[in-house]
Amino acid sequence: MCGIVGYVGQKQALEVVVSGLRRLEYRGYDSAGVAVISEGELEVRKKAGKLANLESLIGQDPLPSSTTGIGHTRWATHGGPTDSNAHPHVSENGRIAVIHNGIIENFAELRDELTAAGVHLSSETDTEVVAHLLARELPLAEFDLTVAMMRTCALLEGAFTLLCLDPHQPDVVVGARRNSPLVVGVGDGENFLASDVAAFVEYTSEALELGQDQIVTLTPDGVSVIDFDGNPVIPLAFTIDWDASAAEKDGYELFMLKEIAEQPRAVADTLRGRIGKDFRIQLDEANLDDAVIKKISKVMVIACGTAAHAGMVAKYAIEHWTRLPVDVELASEFRYRDPIVGPDTLVIAISQSGETMDTLMALRYAKEQGAHTLAICNTVGSTIPRESDAVLYTRAGPEVAVASTKAFLTQIVAAYLVGLYLAQVRGALFEDEVRSILRDLDDMPSKIDLVLDTVEPVRALARQLVDARSVLFLGRHVGFPVALEGALKLKELAYMHAEGFPAGELKHGPIALIEDGIPVVVIVPSPRGRAVLHDKIVSNIQEVRARGARIIAIAEEGDESITPYADDIIRIPEVPTLLQPLVATVPLQVFACEMATAKGHDVDQPRNLAKSVTVE
Ligand code: F6R
Repeated sequence: MCGIVGYVGQKQALEVVVSGLRRLEYRGYDSAGVAVISEGELEVRKKAGKLANLESLIGQDPLPSSTTGIGHTRWATHGGPTDSNAHPHVSENGRIAVIHNGIIENFAELRDELTAAGVHLSSETDTEVVAHLLARELPLAEFDLTVAMMRTCALLEGAFTLLCLDPHQPDVVVGARRNSPLVVGVGDGENFLASDVAAFVEYTSEALELGQDQIVTLTPDGVSVIDFDGNPVIPLAFTIDWDASAAEKDGYELFMLKEIAEQPRAVADTLRGRIGKDFRIQLDEANLDDAVIKKISKVMVIACGTAAHAGMVAKYAIEHWTRLPVDVELASEFRYRDPIVGPDTLVIAISQSGETMDTLMALRYAKEQGAHTLAICNTVGSTIPRESDAVLYTRAGPEVAVASTKAFLTQIVAAYLVGLYLAQVRGALFEDEVRSILRDLDDMPSKIDLVLDTVEPVRALARQLVDARSVLFLGRHVGFPVALEGALKLKELAYMHAEGFPAGELKHGPIALIEDGIPVVVIVPSPRGRAVLHDKIVSNIQEVRARGARIIAIAEEGDESITPYADDIIRIPEVPTLLQPLVATVPLQVFACEMATAKGHDVDQPRNLAKSVTVE
C-alpha cells in the first residue's frame, strides 16, 4: 500500500528510484511521483495513473542529473488519484519534499492549525501537512533535517513511513517509520530506503531492519538510526536471500502466471530441511517454545483475505492432528469484539507481506492479552514476524502479482508443519501416521506439477464462460476454504460476482441464486478418503443441477462416479483429503487469471487493489 523509494549515492537517482518504483508498483498504482535535488533546488514530477504516465511525463519534461532522490507510487486514501494529490508534496517555501505511506489520523487538526497560521494547502491529502510541518520545524531544529523529522513525528498520530529531502542538504535522505514498512539497503558509497527490499535488491543484498518509531538518516557513506526520542539505535542487519531475477517476469507474460508456475518449487522450498530423516519435524529456526506448546489449550489463527483462507484450511488439519481447538479469525474483526485469548492460547498470524495492518494490530492485541504468538510469513524482516515470539517463514520468494497464489499454498504447508510439530511435541500422533503424512507432503511438488501440465482445458473453459454474470464455488471440509479462495480470485481479477459456499449450506438460502446456466464450480472430495463427504457433495451437486446450474467439477483422477453429474470435469491428482487444497486451488487460480485476461483486465494490478494493505 503505497511504495516508497529513496536513494543517495553516485548513480543517477532518477534511474534507481524509477526502477525501484517499478518493482513496488504492486503496492499501489493510482499515481506516481519523484523528487530529486539539483543545484540546491528540488525538482518534482508527479502524475496520476500508473508509473508509465510518470515516465512519459519525465520523457516530455526531463529531470536534471542528480544523485539524491525519492519516489512514490500511491494507493489513494485521502483525496482521489489526481496529479495534485500525487506525492511528493512540497512545502510552500520549496524547502521540503515529502512522500508518505500510511494515514496521518490527526491531519484535519494539523491542517486547521497550518491554515490558521496562513499556510496554503494545495492538495486533499493528509501527507501535505507533513511537508509544511517539516518546513516549519526545520529552522527550529537549526536546519538539521533529522531533528526536524523528529520534531515533526512528535506531532503526528497514525501510521506512517515518511521520506524527505531538503535541497540545502543535497546528500541526505531522512526517513521515519511508525507502523508502516521501511527497510534500508546498504551499498558501497550509496544507500537505499524502500518499503520493500525488492526496490533495491538489484543493487545490494545487504539490508537493515528498522523498528517502530525510528528515524533513519542516509548519506552516500552512512546510515544512522535514532528512535523518536533521539536515542541511537543499532539496526539489525540481514542478507536478502533472493536476487533481482526472482522479481522479474522471467519470460512469462504476467507475474501471476509466473507465480502460479512457481508453486511446486515454492512448496518444496517451504518443506526443505524441516522434515528430518527420522520423520521428525525440525522447526528449531522458528523459536517455538516446547514448554509453551505443551501448556496451550487452544490455537487461534488471525489473518486476512487469502491468508485467512489458508488458516481455514489449516484448522481442519491442526484440530485433527493435535485435538486442540483452532479458531480462525479475520484479523480486521478480531480486536473489535472481546476475543477469548490469553496465556493458554497460541496465536498464529499468517501474512505474506508481514505488514498487513489489520493482522499486525490483531497480533499486538493478542500479545497484550498474554497470548503466545507465531508468525507464518513470507517476508523476512517485516513487522509481523519481528513482533511475534516465533516465526516460520514460507519460502515462496517474492510475490509481485497483487492476487496471492504461491503464498497461499506455502502458507498451508507451513501451517501444516506447525500443526504436525504441535502434535509431535504434545505426543498426539502415532509415528506411522506422521510418516505417511510427511511422505504425502513430500510428494506435493510433483503433484502440483501434474496439475500445471494439464490446465489448458481450464483456460478454454474460462474463455467460454467469459460472459457469465456470476460464478458460484462449492466445497466441503477443506474444500470450503478452497471454494472461498476460488471466488476471491475471480472477484479481484475478473471483477465479477463470485461466491464460495459450504456445499451443504446452499439449501439454507443461497440456492435461490441458482438460475439456468449459472456456472457452479464444485471441489469434489476424494471418494477414497471420507466417502461420506463425497456422497454428500454429489447430493448437493444434484440439488443445484436440478435447478439448471452448469456443474464444473474439480475432481480426482479416477473418480468416475462424478461423471454423470458434471458438465465439465477438471481432473486433479489423487492426494489425501487434507492435502487436496494444494492441488485443487491451482486450476481455480488459472481460471481467474484466464477469465481476467479474456476480459482485457490488468491481471497483475487489478483495479482498486494494492498488495500489502498497511491501513486498517
Ligand atoms: C488476495 C490477496 C489478499 C491478501 C490479504 C492479506 O489475493 O492477496 O486477500 O491475502 O490482503 O495479505 P498478507 O498475506 O500480506 O497479510
